[in-house]
Amino acid sequence: MDSITHRPDAEFLDPYSKGLPPTSRVTADTIGSQGWNIRRGDTSTPVAVLRTAALDANVDIMRRYCEAAGVSLAPHAKTTMSPQLLDRQLAAGAWGLTAALPAQARRLWSFGARRVLLANEVTDPAELHGLCLSLDKDPSRELLFYVDSVDGVRIAEDAAEAAGSAGRRLAVLIELGHEAGRTGARTLDEALTVAEAAAKSRLLDVVGVAGYEGTIGHDRTPETLGRVDTFLTGLRDLATAMAERGLLRPGREVIATAGGSSFFDRVTAILGPLGAEGFRVVLRSGCYLIHDHGQYAALTPSTTAEWALPAFRPALEIWTTVLSRPEPGLALVNAGRRDLSHDAGLPVPLAAWRKAAFQGAAVDLMPGAHISALSDQHAFLRIDPASPLAVGDLVALGVSHPCTTLDRWNLLMLVNEDYDVTGAARTYF
Ligand SMILES: Cc1ncc(COP(=O)(O)O)c(C=O)c1O
Repeated sequence: MDSITHRPDAEFLDPYSKGLPPTSRVTADTIGSQGWNIRRGDTSTPVAVLRTAALDANVDIMRRYCEAAGVSLAPHAKTTMSPQLLDRQLAAGAWGLTAALPAQARRLWSFGARRVLLANEVTDPAELHGLCLSLDKDPSRELLFYVDSVDGVRIAEDAAEAAGSAGRRLAVLIELGHEAGRTGARTLDEALTVAEAAAKSRLLDVVGVAGYEGTIGHDRTPETLGRVDTFLTGLRDLATAMAERGLLRPGREVIATAGGSSFFDRVTAILGPLGAEGFRVVLRSGCYLIHDHGQYAALTPSTTAEWALPAFRPALEIWTTVLSRPEPGLALVNAGRRDLSHDAGLPVPLAAWRKAAFQGAAVDLMPGAHISALSDQHAFLRIDPASPLAVGDLVALGVSHPCTTLDRWNLLMLVNEDYDVTGAARTYF
């Protein structure tokens, strides 16, 4: 089983990391024994908090889902790029890790992970060279990446040749795209032309097909689900056509991969039958681990009637402090666009708490509380003028789309359900 063997947990954390109290000299290993509590106000704010009960639940739900559906998981590591969190996913049986960039792939190898699915084209010879060197450095490492053009095949082949290591072949997946989507050949015929070019290569192994349905839509209306299903059916047809035409490298395990965190139920429904044709079906969901209070809360398959497991739970909260209540219905808290996602909706206030220094109790945010705007370092919290929320109180915010919040943090506090800090996860974006 793959695992993270190099966790920089014993290194001192940057004492200026957001969330650390002033003058902290701690490591990720020792942070959990400081006796800090978020609601008591022991950390500085803003602070990014991961509720470990939700993380544990989400890891376990996805493990059980994949087992029951007979599919594998290579969670997208770009969501967290955190060795501590990736380790949990690998320990729960993930088949490998997904990366979006060559630098992420090299980073994952530096953590000790072995199998990396680079879910992208690599068309920079220097990057390909770097990947070849990393593979040569440790033969236990594995890489799969995408091609969607004959030019891409040629560039990969030239780079493999230039890197020149005897016997090493590069494993490629033929990517199918969808109209108005991102990368990926747009038609079955175009994809087969790429597959034929790659199959003739002396240095490339064609090991399957790849696609991404998450860019098709951001709702679960019948129309969007219909388009998702049509796309995935095309991907399945491509896999079958490549097998029939002998374009897959004999003797290698073959892969069919798709699946973010919104429509992975459709991926298992439509690509699942490829299992009987010898393909390993690999999901690449990443956000399920953190989940959210917005886009994914609405889109996750765990909201559907067919879902037979517990629902995914939001793990991430950004705790902030009220700086000012300058108008009756307005509070300003100390986190903004530098700390919070806003690409898929504004953050939502979840709870408020009066710090121990003042009273140590929950504060009623009252109905209708919402964030109306963000500036770089402030959020505008609209509240009922009668709300008892006061300057100095803590406000917890949930986000929509975890990736673009996590990007803004290099340190995440792990907390239990009482908000005791039990550890830390570092990120390496
Ligand atoms: C190619 C690809 N695969 C998988 C994923 C993971 O999807 P999600 O972030 O919904 O978990 C993404 C996310 O952007 C992606 O771009």
